[in-house]
Amino acid sequence: MFKIGIIGAGRIAHVHANAVSAHPDAQLVMVADPFGDSAAQLAQKYGAKASTDPADVFAADDVDAVIICSPTPFHVDHILAAHAAGKPALCEKPIAMDMAEVDRLKAAVGDAKPMVMMGFNRRFDPSFNKIHRLLEEGAIGDLEQVTIISRDPAAPPREYIAQSGGIFKDMTIHDFDTARYFLGDVTSVYAVGQHLDPDLADTGDYDGVVIVLTNSDGKSATITNSRHCASGYDQRLEVFGNKGMLNAENIRPTTVRLSNGTTTDAQDPYLDFFLTRYTEAYAYELDAFLESIRAGAAPSPSIDDAVKALVIAEAAAESAHTGKQVQL
Ligand SMILES: NC(=O)c1ccc[n+]([C@@H]2O[C@H](COP(=O)([O-])OP(=O)(O)OC[C@H]3O[C@@H](n4cnc5c(N)ncnc54)[C@H](O)[C@@H]3O)[C@@H](O)[C@H]2O)c1
Repeated sequence: MFKIGIIGAGRIAHVHANAVSAHPDAQLVMVADPFGDSAAQLAQKYGAKASTDPADVFAADDVDAVIICSPTPFHVDHILAAHAAGKPALCEKPIAMDMAEVDRLKAAVGDAKPMVMMGFNRRFDPSFNKIHRLLEEGAIGDLEQVTIISRDPAAPPREYIAQSGGIFKDMTIHDFDTARYFLGDVTSVYAVGQHLDPDLADTGDYDGVVIVLTNSDGKSATITNSRHCASGYDQRLEVFGNKGMLNAENIRPTTVRLSNGTTTDAQDPYLDFFLTRYTEAYAYELDAFLESIRAGAAPSPSIDDAVKALVIAEAAAESAHTGKQVQL
């Protein structure tokens, strides 16, 4: 049984706590969050201990591994604390707010390889994972183009956007990782940013973005993001090869379709947000994390994957700002 500690007790911590409680080989034993009673509330739900000091989790003898769910500006500190305590960590995306923080992490660990898996949960989504497997098996021949559509149902609060690092690091980072999952390393980035939502005008962040990535073989990925979508959480993936195509469509709670005198083929709304749409992905992600600890193997996605996604995010911001393609 792996005894798990969680750092930060906000939205994503609840998703991970739920995955831990559902896993046959894992148990949530401690939650830490410096603010309010959020740690106590989450801990109580699963019979765990609570603390307002994350250091208590890293110091606890009965915590085998940690899940870092704190806001992004604290990720590097918490990765370093886990590494110093000898505890494997599953850390939420993105790895850091900027490359200076990544450099600080690299300088602190030196040649050591911290046992850290990065929370790019979409690699573990059963549909995206199956597309990857079928591509590897040759089902559509050689990969040519990847198309990723990811739109949130509604924008997060203004305060969240202000400390998120911007849409490329906060939201598109998932899609940069998905693109890398299929294309491997990316060599060019071209991005367009949109300011179309008057409610977000004062945040200074884009509310929609379109990005084209290419790799050294001339293969491409196109990513379309929006902070809002009237029809719900829009998560689609298409992978096109010279011998076929693979598609993952939006998922609904049921397959029922309504046709009558005013509509045809009307269906339930999509699963409403990441908590429901990617529940299985978070569970498989946790399983892969625990399996890497059990096997003593390097976890994947790795810190290196997270840094490469962050480099693409910074290049996308530069491209959207200058209107020019950025070579990596
Ligand atoms: N993988 C995904 O699908 C996904 C989804 C949402 C968020 N995230 C990531 O998870 C992280 C947290 O996002 P969230 O939506 O849960 O935010 P949130 O604001 O809901 O929760 C963050 C929590 O961390 C606590 N906190 C603040 N400072 C802390 C510190 N120094 N140490 C420990 N805890 C601290 C806050 O009190 C809060 O309870 C972000 O990095 C975000 O990018 C990932």
